[in-house]
Formats: sequence, structure tokens, C-alpha cells
Amino acid sequence: MRVVTIVGARPQFVKAAALSRVLRRAHTEVLVHTGQHYDHAMSQVFFDELGIEPPEINLGVGSGRHGEQTGAMLAGLERVLDEQRPDWVLVYGDTNSTLAAGLAASKLGLPVAHVEAGLRSFNRAMPEEINRVLVDHLSTMLLCPSQTAVENLAAEGIRQGIHVVGDVMLDALLHARDCAAVRSDVLPRLGVRAGAYVVATVHRAENTDEPARLFDILKALGASDVPVVFPVHPRTRQVLERTSYALPASMRLSMPLGYLDMVALVASARAVVTDSGGLQKEAYWLGVPCITVRTETEWVETVHAGWNRVVGTDAGAIASALAAVERPAARPPLYGEPGAAERCVRVLEAAAA
Ligand code: UD1
Repeated sequence: MRVVTIVGARPQFVKAAALSRVLRRAHTEVLVHTGQHYDHAMSQVFFDELGIEPPEINLGVGSGRHGEQTGAMLAGLERVLDEQRPDWVLVYGDTNSTLAAGLAASKLGLPVAHVEAGLRSFNRAMPEEINRVLVDHLSTMLLCPSQTAVENLAAEGIRQGIHVVGDVMLDALLHARDCAAVRSDVLPRLGVRAGAYVVATVHRAENTDEPARLFDILKALGASDVPVVFPVHPRTRQVLERTSYALPASMRLSMPLGYLDMVALVASARAVVTDSGGLQKEAYWLGVPCITVRTETEWVETVHAGWNRVVGTDAGAIASALAAVERPAARPPLYGEPGAAERCVRVLEAAAA
């Protein structure tokens, strides 16, 4: 089986690492990087740490407005896919790279397999929601992490090609966790003690394009009684620099962290405050309570299990959630058992045969 995998943004490198490892044991994979993320700390560090083979093709598209960026990827991917003509085009998640890949492949009549299919925030103001809805409708194979995802697809009339495989991020996390414990010195490097700090990340357009919203989140974090480690996404850093915002003294800023450092940091945190999707689940799997600074989440199961609170961006609401943070007694396997990467490959093999 010949597979072209298309990645471009940070979370996709993590997911692809888990799946490529299994796929390449018996099949041919051509890895294409769109170049959506290009800083060393946003891209190369993941390839180095997770042992991902260098991409066979890098389109070097870079940043831009949505239309400009997605359009450039679409043109580049169409050329690549027309040359490669694989059995499957494998795409991950909900970024502009995912959408461009899905569109380019489906217009060429190539079957698309979507990992992390069926997730919905039901908020069409999010670019990611547009991307995931469209890609699900273009995909031949929908690889879902949960039953909720299957129900979301059914509600939109998608009933064919659906497989519940679990979550490949769990495979990536388990692979990294032991390694992170040995190899990461992130706690002493950032001057924090296990159990006595909070990890915060904020990068979504909805929270950074409107600086007042970002400042509300930072104000709440500044009121924390323990240090807050804040690895800053380049988009967020630009807003902080442009507005010359004076960060609260309790906050420890860092560059975006590599995967091993991030896993080590989250594993020993008292709590996580984030607008990231992946981090909500990583916190859950590592047994750390999460506070989500959005108005909704795609990962509703973590909320129902009591490990994640969706509080919006009001400073008072975030501060009270932080003060009241606690670990529920139970942590059921919400997104399946480990082995999602193997299950994905088996499903693709069976369909390609
Ligand atoms: C993208 C995804 C989002 C995902 C996130 C992970 C879309 C619509 N969104 O958001 O779902 O959670 O990746 O990080 O695809 N920048 C740099 N260096 C880089 C990359 C970006 O400086 O290597 C800056 C640029 O100013 C850029 C901005 O960050 O304009 C935003 O980057 P972009 O790739 O457009 O989206 P993300 O916010 O990273």
C-alpha cells in the first residue's frame, strides 16, 4: 500500500509520528510537509525528538491569510498528489493543511483518510470547525476517536467509511512519556517544582485576535498562587510585543516547547489552562485537571468525566476555576485503549486490498 501523508502544523507532527511508525513497517509512505509551521520550535524539534523521517517533500508555504495560505497549499498539493497517485491520502485534524490536502486529493479522485474525524465544536466562527466539517465530507475513510464523533457525523448524513479507532495522540503520548521523564530537564530549567505550578497555553485566533480577551486570561493567570509556566505560540508573542503588555510577575514565559518538554511539564503540573484541543486530552491522560479558556470544546467527554472545565475567557471565572481545581477519583479510557495507530493501519489495509 502506498500512502501520501500530509502534515503542516505542530499537532499533526505528533499524530503522524505515532502512525508513521506503524505504517512504515509494511508499507510505503511519502510524507509531505506543507510548511504551514516552519520555525524550528514549531516544526523541526518534533521531527528530531519523535524520530519522524524527514518529509520527502516540503512545500514551504509558510504563514499568510487563510485564503492565501490554503490556496498556495492547494496548488502545491495538487501537483504532488497527481504525480504520486497513492492508494490513500492521509490527513490529520483540522488545520488549513488538512483542508487543502482533502480538497486537492478529492478533486483528483484520490481516497482521503481523515484521522480525528467527526469532532465538532459547533462554532462556525472557528476556522478549524470549517476545516473539519469540509474534510469529513470529502473523506472516504473517517477514523474517529470516539462514539460522539460517529454521532456527529451521522447528524450530518455521513454514515459510510466510519471506524472508531481511538486516539493516535494517546499512542504518541505513551511513547513520549517515559522518554520525557528521563530526557527532559524542563522543571529545573524553568525553575518550578512538581505539583506547584500551572501550565498555560493560548494561541487560538479567537483569543489572540482580540487582545482584551487575551489580557483577561493573563490577568486570571497572574492571580494564581503558584507560578504559571506559559510557553508562547508565535502568534500570541506578536500580540504581546505589539501591545507592550506587562506580564504578571508570577508568569514564566518560554519559547514554544518541544513535545518531550511539554509532556514532562504537563505530567507534573497542578493544572493546565489552555485553548488547545490536544492539550485538553494530554492533561486528561496524564491525570492533570484542565481549564479550557473557550466557550465550547470538541472533547466533551473530558468535561463529562469531571477533568475539564470549559470556562470562557472571563478573568473571574478562570481564577475561581483555578482556585477550585481538583482531581476526580476516576479516569476511564475515554478515547479508547492504546493502539489506535495500529487500528488505523489495519483499516486502511483492509480497504485497499
Ligand atoms: C494552526 C491551526 C490550529 C492549530 C495550531 C497549532 C489552522 C487554521 N489552525 O494555528 O488549529 O491548533 O496550528 O499550533 O490551521 N507563526 C510563526 N511561525 C510558525 C508558524 C506560525 O511565526 O512556524 C505565526 C505567524 O505569524 C502566523 C501565525 O503564527 O501567521 C499563525 O500561524 P498559522 O499556521 O496560520 O495558524 P496557528 O495559529 O498556528
